[in-house]
Amino acid sequence: MDLHLEHIRREYSSRQLSRKDLPKEPLSIVAQWLEEAIEMKVNEPTAVIVATATPDGRPSMRTVLLKELLDDRFVFYSNYESRKGQQIALNRHVALTFLWHELERQIHIEGTIERLSPQESDAYFDQRPYKSRVGARISPQSRPIPSREYIMGLFAAESLRFIGRHIPRPEHWGGWAVTPQRIELWQGRDSRLHDRFLYEKDETTGEWTLHRIAP
Ligand SMILES: Cc1cc2nc3c(=O)[nH]c(=O)nc-3n(C[C@H](O)[C@H](O)[C@H](O)COP(=O)(O)O)c2cc1C
Repeated sequence: MDLHLEHIRREYSSRQLSRKDLPKEPLSIVAQWLEEAIEMKVNEPTAVIVATATPDGRPSMRTVLLKELLDDRFVFYSNYESRKGQQIALNRHVALTFLWHELERQIHIEGTIERLSPQESDAYFDQRPYKSRVGARISPQSRPIPSREYIMGLFAAESLRFIGRHIPRPEHWGGWAVTPQRIELWQGRDSRLHDRFLYEKDETTGEWTLHRIAP
């Protein structure tokens, strides 16, 4: 099948990013860009694409929702036995991408990932809506299931089992935190001459270096 999309083209010109706008360390500007995306009411401002890879380097990606920026780490929640969970168990290197079309901005992050403590995961799980807690318990995320009816049946049975009671977090579900080593801020500009700034963390000193990189 052919699909011709060459005619779809627009310029990015709403904003710019200069070195003088940038702090010594990147986390505060990442937080600022997230807050601006939320204030601007862009669609799903906290959505972030998470790339994982097998130990031999086969990548896969999916979108999740960022729930916290905690101690300079990016926190999201998912199923530990999912496809991403299986890849993370064997390879702690991950990458994240935030894309805010309305702001003509994206951020790329690379780093390593670790699980939150069970207590931290419990604290977040307990504030989720009832149905989301039930869903997390019954869904064998990423694995084949026979039908929609099958999962709805599990959901109904589990909902009844816990009605009026505390629903405990299942062990297969919880938080992950990504510690960044590389953060790139991208601001779209005219003629595809975008502003790009790259922060890299020195592993021994913990200091961040900052470079403008070519569009
Ligand atoms: C906007 C959006 C937000 C999502 N948020 C989450 C999330 O926070 N946690 C999660 O496990 N899956 C979330 N998903 C579903 C994932 O993209 C994905 O389907 C699921 O985590 C299974 O991925 P895996 O099979 O690669 O492990 C979201 C999907 C979309 C489109």
